[in-house]
Amino acid sequence: MNKIIKNFQDLPTPAFVCEEKLLEKNLKLLKKVQDEAGVNILLALKGFSLYSTFDLCAKYLKGCCASGLNEAILAKNEFKKEVHTYSPAFKDDEIDEIINLSNHLVFNSFSQLKRYKDKAFSKVSLGLRVNPEYSSVEVDLYNPCSPFSRLGVTKSNFEEEYLQYLDGLHFHALCEQNVDALRGALSNFEEKFGEYLHKLKWVNFGGGHHITRADYDVQGLIQLLKDFKARYPHLKVYLEPGEAVGWQTGYLVASVLDVIENGMNLAILDTSAEAHMPDTLAMPYRADIRNSAMANEKKYTYRLGGNTCLAGDIIGDYSFDEPLKIGDKIILEDMIHYTMVKTTTFNGINLPSIILKKDENYFEIIKEFGYNEYISRI
Ligand SMILES: Cc1ncc(COP(=O)(O)O)c(C=O)c1O
Repeated sequence: MNKIIKNFQDLPTPAFVCEEKLLEKNLKLLKKVQDEAGVNILLALKGFSLYSTFDLCAKYLKGCCASGLNEAILAKNEFKKEVHTYSPAFKDDEIDEIINLSNHLVFNSFSQLKRYKDKAFSKVSLGLRVNPEYSSVEVDLYNPCSPFSRLGVTKSNFEEEYLQYLDGLHFHALCEQNVDALRGALSNFEEKFGEYLHKLKWVNFGGGHHITRADYDVQGLIQLLKDFKARYPHLKVYLEPGEAVGWQTGYLVASVLDVIENGMNLAILDTSAEAHMPDTLAMPYRADIRNSAMANEKKYTYRLGGNTCLAGDIIGDYSFDEPLKIGDKIILEDMIHYTMVKTTTFNGINLPSIILKKDENYFEIIKEFGYNEYISRI
């Protein structure tokens, strides 16, 4: 039995707190797209793999997309629906197990297809990731279509004679984008690869569709998908968002450990940008903090820093109505997707606990971490 906590103030920190109600709201919207457009939506485990919620997710979505063996096992054992596995390169010592676990297997190159086709053909539906060469993602770190990208086969490198082994094509070209970007990527995809589609059974539109964001044009997406299906009625269509599933479904709660002064007010938290929210440094972006404002907008401004010795482990400058004091809780918003999946124990810092908010009344502690998790990965 997991520990139950009634009061927010009693939560251990740092902790990721996922609110089931918010997750279900996202899932319902994704199901609406699925039902109205007649497509299949998979959860991209790389972005959200909180498997204690998979019973709920599996009520709405068709399965998971996995990036390799471990995610494929997780999908099979915990989600228990379709498993679609794509990896930039599969390994000889893992491919047999991946084939057994997967419904769809998507290769990133013709050389991988040639290497594994004899093992995989007839056991699993085979696909190829193609690169539609549609660059609309501004940050190169997240742009799969940047020049010399290793992700997906471009039209000029397409080897038509191997089409006979393929059931489907997969393209992933977006990151946190709206329908206009999908329209552009799809148009390039059809222009370059449309001639092959009549020979195939499915197309996977990848992830990066920010469907659950408030300004996302959901009706526009449904229409775009319906139009595509009208052009290719024989094709099954898949989308595999990760971020849109976990979008705004919870937060990271941390405590203030110390407040010091060095030309400005500094607060040290029991979390870390580097170890617990790496995208804040990599992207980079400014995390929202509940009841705070930009520096100097409210009366008391602090530079919030993490509890590692990395000088740049800085969350940012924020202002508050009241002075911060040791023990205060800080709520970093929207920290469920692409966080838990990326944490490290850098500096030996503890991983954040994982907590589910089950309804308005209580929190369930799913996992707490300590020395065992630290030692097991070094
Ligand atoms: C192949 C593939 N599919 C799906 C996704 C999920 O994308 P998102 O979480 O942005 O929806 C990614 C993310 O990088 C990806 O590389």
